[in-house]
Amino acid sequence: MKKWYAVIGDPVSHSKSPAMHEEWFRENGIDASYVPIHVPAGTVGDAVAALRRLGASGWNVTVPHKQAIIPYLDEVDPLAAEMQAVNTVKVLQDGRLLGMNTDGPGFVRSLEERIGSARRNDRVLIIGAGGAANGIALAMLQGGYGKIAVCNRTVAKAEALCERIGGEALGLEEAAGRLGEFGIIIQTTPVGMSTATSGLPVAVDHLNPDAVVADIVYSPLHTDFLKAAMNNGNEIVDGLGMFIWQGALAFNEWTGLMPDTLGTRKRLIAETEETIC
Ligand code: ATR
Repeated sequence: MKKWYAVIGDPVSHSKSPAMHEEWFRENGIDASYVPIHVPAGTVGDAVAALRRLGASGWNVTVPHKQAIIPYLDEVDPLAAEMQAVNTVKVLQDGRLLGMNTDGPGFVRSLEERIGSARRNDRVLIIGAGGAANGIALAMLQGGYGKIAVCNRTVAKAEALCERIGGEALGLEEAAGRLGEFGIIIQTTPVGMSTATSGLPVAVDHLNPDAVVADIVYSPLHTDFLKAAMNNGNEIVDGLGMFIWQGALAFNEWTGLMPDTLGTRKRLIAETEETIC
C-alpha cells in the first residue's frame, strides 16, 4: 500500500515541507506522498486519532502543536522530552507513536555542513531564549559544544535556559559589548523576519571577524543581522540549512535514507529567486 506522511499546523498552507519531502521520495524511488493538514489550536488530539486511523506512516508537527501533541503520543524520545517539544512523529512497526525533535539537531547538522566539527571548543553565543533557542542549546551540548552563553531581551528566560545547560546568561546590551569573545553566534529571535521586525537584536560593532554567524530565519535568506556580519567579513550560516536538515533527519527516521540536502538547497534558493523576479 502506498505510504503517506503529513505536516500538521496552523498556519500550514505556506509550508515548503510537502514539496521537499515529495521530491525526496521521488529521488529515492519511494512510492509515498506528503500532505499539509490544517489543524487549528485545541484540536490536535482529534488530529492524532484521525492520522492513526487513516494509516499515516509519520508526520511533522509545527506551530502551535509542538508541545500540545505530547499527551497524545505513546512515547517521546529523551531530547524531545527534555525540550517538551515534538516536531516529528514516527509510527513504529507495532503502531505505537514515537515523538522526536529534529529541529535542534537539524541546526547542528546545517552548521557543521558549512564549518565542519573543528570549532566545538569555540565559545558559543545564542541570541534568544524561546523554544527554538532551547532546542538548539540542548542539541549543541549533545553535539559536543561545551561553552555556551545565552542572551535575551528578558534576562530571566536566558537564566532559566542556562540553568539547564550550565551556560552564562546575559542581557542584550552586555552581549553586544562582549560579542568579540564568541566564535559562534546563533540568532534565534524573529528579529529580521519581516519589515515589522527589521534591525539587529544585538549591535555588531564588537563582532570578531573570525566568528561564524548563524541565523535561523530563512525568509529573508539574509537578515539584517547576517548582512551586517557579511559586511564585517564573517562567515555566515543562513536559516535555510536548519529547515532542510530538520526535514532530512525526519525523512531519515521514516525511511532509513539520507536525502540530498545540498541539491535541495540549490532548488529552494532558485525557487525563491523566481518568486522575487
Ligand atoms: P521560538 O519558538 O521561535 O523561539 P518564542 O518561544 O516565542 O519563539 O521565542 C522568541 C524569542 O525571541 C524570545 O527569546 C524573545 O525574547 P523575550 O523572551 O524577551 O520575549 C525573542 N524576541 C522576540 N521579539 C524580539 C525583539 N523584538 N527583540 C529582541 N528579542 C525578541
